Amino acid sequence: MIGRALMARAGEGKSYAVGFEDLALDAWPAGDVVIRVSHSGLNYKDALAITGRGPIIRSFPMVLGIDLAGEVIESASPRFAAGDRVIVDGWGLSETRWGAYAQVVRMPESVVQPLPAGLSPEQAMQIGTAGYTAMLCAMALMDHGLRPGGDAVLVTGASGGVGSVAVSLLARAGYEVIAVSGRPEQEAFLKSLGAAQVLGREAVSAGGRPMAKERWAGVVDVAGGQLLADAIAQTRYDGIVAACGMAGGAALATSVFPFILRGVTLRGVDSVMVPMARRLAAWARLDADLDRGLLAQLGRTHDFADLPQLAVDLLEGRLQGRIAVRL
Ligand SMILES: NC(=O)c1ccc[n+]([C@@H]2O[C@H](COP(=O)([O-])OP(=O)(O)OC[C@H]3O[C@@H](n4cnc5c(N)ncnc54)[C@H](OP(=O)(O)O)[C@@H]3O)[C@@H](O)[C@H]2O)c1
Repeated sequence: MIGRALMARAGEGKSYAVGFEDLALDAWPAGDVVIRVSHSGLNYKDALAITGRGPIIRSFPMVLGIDLAGEVIESASPRFAAGDRVIVDGWGLSETRWGAYAQVVRMPESVVQPLPAGLSPEQAMQIGTAGYTAMLCAMALMDHGLRPGGDAVLVTGASGGVGSVAVSLLARAGYEVIAVSGRPEQEAFLKSLGAAQVLGREAVSAGGRPMAKERWAGVVDVAGGQLLADAIAQTRYDGIVAACGMAGGAALATSVFPFILRGVTLRGVDSVMVPMARRLAAWARLDADLDRGLLAQLGRTHDFADLPQLAVDLLEGRLQGRIAVRL
């Protein structure tokens, strides 16, 4: 069995070349479940790996792509049978484990989970790792005890993949969502997702102070860097900041004061190694809570061949919402 795949092969020094190849199933590492992939997603991490602008790949050769949806065609696992619709996301795909951008893949059963009943493979990948991470962030705020009706919640990087899904999930759950975007032209899009207000990045500056006027009950931050430091400085007493990204930088210049004087919680959110039970809970909530009309509005599906250009477009801020690719 042969399938087309987007592969990275090592070059000189730290460089590598990315290209489409026909890959035989026999070339894949051992695994229990063979999946015909119908859709994958384009995430920030995928864009870094495809363009070589970030150190994502840890071994070569590597099949790129961090998430997939498709149908089982062979299974040595009692948990899955031919015809089952499944998804795989995270778990080191495209980093240490051959990934998702391939028409046929072979995976260990431990990383495979059923596709939620109410989602098509295309919808699941329009949600993708970014949307599932947005749900993990929203769950972190809710688990902390934040209820709708209190102070507003802030979402940074709001027009991107994680941010746009977080805006729509939190707004639909009844929270007053303030969206931060560096792109003023995205205001109408973000309001259509449910944002009560859209602010520019400079409008949430705390002027470099570690503590400023309390504005937010909770924060979903994809930006890191200065924006995360500003958000922490403006989080109200006993509030929570769910930090999952570094689109604006990996550094974090703050002090202990927001934590020891206001009891602010900084909650890290990782989607890659989350235990299966929490993944299943997050995907079940996406299935139950995500407005399908909004998903149709924020999701787009492109051809497999378009991935290299889409990756550049994503990093250069020319895309909005969530991108799936059909394989
Ligand atoms: N922890 C995890 O497991 C996990 C999972 C998924 C993603 N992530 C991380 O989350 C981040 C966002 O991922 P994504 O898929 O949503 O990417 P994306 O679609 O590219 O969105 C990122 C958004 O961040 C904003 N942004 C870009 N440059 C910025 C800057 N210099 N300062 C502040 N904001 C900036 C932009 O939104 P505006 O134009 O609206 O400002 C952009 O649309 C990435 O760092 C990614 O690696 C982490």
